Amino acid sequence: MTPAPTPLLEMRGLAKRFGAQVALQDVSLAIAAGEVHALAGENGAGKSTLMAILSGALAPDEGEILWEGRPVGLPDVRSAQALGISIVHQEPQLVASLSVAENIGLGRLPHRAGPLRLVDTGAMRAAARAALGLLGVTVPVEAAVGAIGVAQRQLVAVARALHFGARLIILDEPTSSLSLGEIEALLTSLRALRARGTTLVYISHRLEELRAIADRVTVLRDGRVVTTAPMGAMDNEALITAMSGRELAADLQTGPPPPGAEPRLRVRDLAQAGRLHAFTLDVREGEVVGLAGLMGAGRSRVLRTIFGADRRTAGVVEVRAAGGWRAVHDVASAIAAGVGLVPEDRRALGLVFTATVCDNVGLRTPPDARRWGLLLSRVLRALAEAAVATLRIKARGIDDPVRTLSGGNQQKVVLGRWLRDTRVLLLDEPTRGVDVSAKAEIHRHLRALAASSVALLVASSEIPELLALCDRIVVMRQGRVAGELPRDRATPAEILSLATGATERRAS
Ligand SMILES: Nc1ncnc2c1ncn2[C@@H]1O[C@H](COP(=O)(O)OP(=O)(O)OP(=O)(O)O)[C@@H](O)[C@H]1O
Ligand SMILES: [Mg+2]
Repeated sequence: MTPAPTPLLEMRGLAKRFGAQVALQDVSLAIAAGEVHALAGENGAGKSTLMAILSGALAPDEGEILWEGRPVGLPDVRSAQALGISIVHQEPQLVASLSVAENIGLGRLPHRAGPLRLVDTGAMRAAARAALGLLGVTVPVEAAVGAIGVAQRQLVAVARALHFGARLIILDEPTSSLSLGEIEALLTSLRALRARGTTLVYISHRLEELRAIADRVTVLRDGRVVTTAPMGAMDNEALITAMSGRELAADLQTGPPPPGAEPRLRVRDLAQAGRLHAFTLDVREGEVVGLAGLMGAGRSRVLRTIFGADRRTAGVVEVRAAGGWRAVHDVASAIAAGVGLVPEDRRALGLVFTATVCDNVGLRTPPDARRWGLLLSRVLRALAEAAVATLRIKARGIDDPVRTLSGGNQQKVVLGRWLRDTRVLLLDEPTRGVDVSAKAEIHRHLRALAASSVALLVASSEIPELLALCDRIVVMRQGRVAGELPRDRATPAEILSLATGATERRAS
């Protein structure tokens, strides 16, 4: 028998605690040279923490790391980079005002000979093109990073890693903000890398993606390794059971709203010059309406404009409350009328990262707390405790700053804000970055909200999510409604053909 080859990277007995919270415990894992190793696990399982240790950003409390069989210390990101380990984050950490070429080369720019040590722009751009070429893509290297899309930024971050000679690239949820086509393109680029012998660690909550790219998978649960297995040896059920330690409960399907249900949200001819055209929709109490469409079709814009976060140029938005119809014309009147928004970008719009879970849940002060100033903090705390319990938010307590929560748990905090006193809830990609079981849980909560008469409007780029959740699906294309499908008639093919314009005539 030939001895097993030395793994490129090995972790032995790693442990990491944050105060009383055990994030990782006795984690041992070997990554073979040239493989794509998937890391799966529920929100808060420890995936990002483990990768922070590997990339030199975080020091472990215990354990050792071996690189090609030799123990190494990774005191900082630079020393990990020097060994050949680079990480690409979900929101790539690039400098928006600098060009693509500068971002790829930053920290390693070629200089001209001479006393001024000017940057050799030509060489810098050539190196950037070469790195992008390894991924089989062309991105304009002179463009500012702020001007290119998120999918291209993702590729720029990978190219940067390659430019620094990375042999092991960690991708932590690289696809959560990408469209289906962009995901396919990224996976193709990554396969090209694997063919060149680059080793990848790949994190995603989308099991089909792991299946499409990974050779092996390691499942983490509560900071421990549950199993490492060839990807093909674990079907989705086995993966979910390993991640959650229990079988996934079947999706709770409540019925559509009763036939007599009244409209709750009334939108008439909502417009935004050049971007959104005559958007008209009623959502009845207890109804869940989905918004489908390709990237840029205007789904997020509709939600933000209804909420008043984006200015409209025409149209009427009304919410039916106890006293009759109330007009909504800006964020304040939206909140006063009981409208909530769970935005797409939780970093920019949804959360105050440095504030606690409690303060984030309470950002929209509930009416009773506003009226009784003295009770405010008690009411808020009770609300936050309830949100943590209902949504099973993994935190030590409601006084934890939100930035210390894992990505998926941050998403639940945004949702937690609107669990009570909401008449109309607008949700944009509500389960982005959320693990499979938590996603089913969130769906259950949304259906429960509907059952309590809330009207829900949900934008999602995941068609299966819309099909699982919605009574009716409105498909948008280029800022207009392209068509509408009741749940029993909606299929992915129907939705896509409306979204791409293939059947627009027939629908109208
Ligand atoms: N800086 C920190 N301070 C305190 N606790 C932290 C910190 N970073 C992470 N944690 C905790 O460590 C645990 C693991 O978090 P981690 O971010 O590694 O999870 P994850 O598997 O990446 O989850 P997700 O899928 O939601 O991104 C969580 O309970 C989290 O709250
Ligand atoms: Mg994470």
